[in-house]
Order: sequence, then structure tokens, then C-alpha cells
Amino acid sequence: MASARLKYLSLGVLVFQTTSLVLTMRYSRTLQAEGPRYLASSAVVVAEVMKILACVLLVFKEHSYSIRALNSILRQEILHKPIETLKLAIPSGIYTLQNNLLYVALSNLDAATYQVTYQLKILTTALFSVSMLGRRLGVYQWLSLLVLMAGVALVQWPSESAAAPEKEARSAGSQFVGVTAVLVACCSSGFAGVYFEKILKESKQSVWVRNIQLGMFGLVFGLFGMLAYDGERVRESGMFQGYNTITWTVVALQALGGLVIAAVIKYADNILKGFATSLSIILSTLISYFLLQDFDPSSVFFLGAVLVIAATFLYGYEGKPPANPSRA
Ligand code: C5P
Repeated sequence: MASARLKYLSLGVLVFQTTSLVLTMRYSRTLQAEGPRYLASSAVVVAEVMKILACVLLVFKEHSYSIRALNSILRQEILHKPIETLKLAIPSGIYTLQNNLLYVALSNLDAATYQVTYQLKILTTALFSVSMLGRRLGVYQWLSLLVLMAGVALVQWPSESAAAPEKEARSAGSQFVGVTAVLVACCSSGFAGVYFEKILKESKQSVWVRNIQLGMFGLVFGLFGMLAYDGERVRESGMFQGYNTITWTVVALQALGGLVIAAVIKYADNILKGFATSLSIILSTLISYFLLQDFDPSSVFFLGAVLVIAATFLYGYEGKPPANPSRA
């Protein structure tokens, strides 16, 4: 079936994209060139622009490369349906808030605590899928989500030596602020993802048109963010200061991520997206160990990896009806 193929293709591309993004970011951090660092707020804006351009191209392709058809679909669906377009301001605003919350979280927590706690979004996503989309999960599926969460948490558990110095520097107060920010981000991640899924699955409109609508708001929010945080620096040295080939690669991979996530939400769902990103965390850690040698996987890592893989199989287990029910 074509839709099943698209489902697994989109999930596979997501694993590839997340893995390469993590590796490129890690590589860019270890091999940081001299000179000014690029502005993260500018990277967000550039990624939104790339995403919108790519989606416009995809809509153009969907309409047999006709400029007239492209023009009319964009007018009809975006300009002439302001209420439908405004609906996308909700997930877009929440994603912007989320990206900022994660920044607050990272500044108050060590990276490992942050990543481990953020895995709670697997559960919030499932809860929102059940409450907002009426999805039903069996006992094995709930169990597998718990196993997945525990598995990813273990995979990201810091080894003793790596964690100790960083943890000491944080006060209880900043831990509290950081954990609260992550917990709110978990809720916003679950809600925004499922809300976008609801919009996609309740209408026949192309996922790329929806993504243009989402990206337009993202661009506006992102520009505000850039001017608010880094306005001074942008005026001084421009928004592309510190950009190099690796920066462009990271930005392009981030833009690709937005496209792939949209495809995954359309053809698969938010819960399966959680499995794909968990698997890619394992993959990027292993590749980073073999190629960059900047990580030494511990036995806790391997236990976590086994749990994530087991959870992936367990999740699919109940979904399949027995081969021959009459014999059962
Ligand atoms: O952590 P979480 O899975 O919620 O992150 C999703 C990310 O994907 C957000 O940063 C959001 O901006 C991005 N996204 C996107 N396009 C979509 C859906 C999500 O760029 N259609």
C-alpha cells in the first residue's frame, strides 16, 4: 500500500535526519572555528525561510509545475481562508515558546538531565493523542511507551565522570527553574504536535500548504525573537555573522527536519515519531562513538538501547490481529 510505504519512508528519513543533525551539531561544536559564533536566533529564521521555500516548491510540483495553479492555490488556501490560516498560529506560537523554554532549561540544567527529562514528552504526546484524536492504545502499547521512555532516559544517562563537575555548579533554585521549563516544554511538544496532526488529518489540504502556513507564523515569531534577543548584534555585524559551511549544513538539516516531521505526522503519527527519534538517539551515539570517539558507551547505555528496541517491537505487537482468529 502506498500510504504504508510513505509511513515507513517518512519514519526512516526522520531517523536519518535526526541522526545527521545531532552528529553535525556535535562535529561543529568540537571543531568550532575561530571568529564570532553564529546567532542561534538567526539560524531559526533562516531555517524557517528554507522550509517555506521548499514547501512552495513541493506545492508547485504537486500542481504539475504550473505557476498559475501555484498562485491560485496559495491565494485560495492562505489569503482567502484567514481563519484556517490563523489556526496554524497556535502550534507555531507554541513551538516558538517551546524553543525558548528549552533554551531556559538548557541554561539551568546540565545537558543530560535536560535530555532525560525531556523524554517525558513521549507520554504527554500519547495522552494528547488519546484525548484530542480519540486514539486508543492497548495495554501493551502503554507499557511499551513506558519502556521507551525509560530506555531513552538510560541511553542519555551521563556516565559518572562526565556528569559530576557540571552538576555541582547548579543551585537547587536553578534546577527547579530548569525542570519546570522542561516539563512545560513536554506538555507543549505533545500538544502542538497532536494539534498539527489533528489539522492535517481533519482536512484534505496538502501537508505542504499547511507547513507554509505554519512556517509563515514561525518566521514572524522568529524575526521578533531575533530582534529581541540579538537586535544589537544583528545591527552591528548582520544576521549572517559567523556562518560557515557547517552552520549552513546545520540550518539546512533543521529545515529538512521540519519537512520530515510534517510528513511523519501526516503519514504516520506523533507517537511513532517518538520511536523514530529515540532510535536515532541510539544511532547517533553509536556513530559518534565510532567516528568522533567523543563518547564512551557504558553498560547503562546498552541496557537503555535494548529497552528502546524492545519497546519498538512491543508497540507493534498488539496492533496486529491474530493471523487466523477462527483458530484462536
Ligand atoms: O520536541 P518536538 O518533537 O516537539 O520538536 C518538534 C520540532 O519540530 C519543533 O522545533 C518545531 O518547530 C518543528 N516542527 C516543524 N514543522 C512542523 C512540525 C514541527 O518545523 N510541521
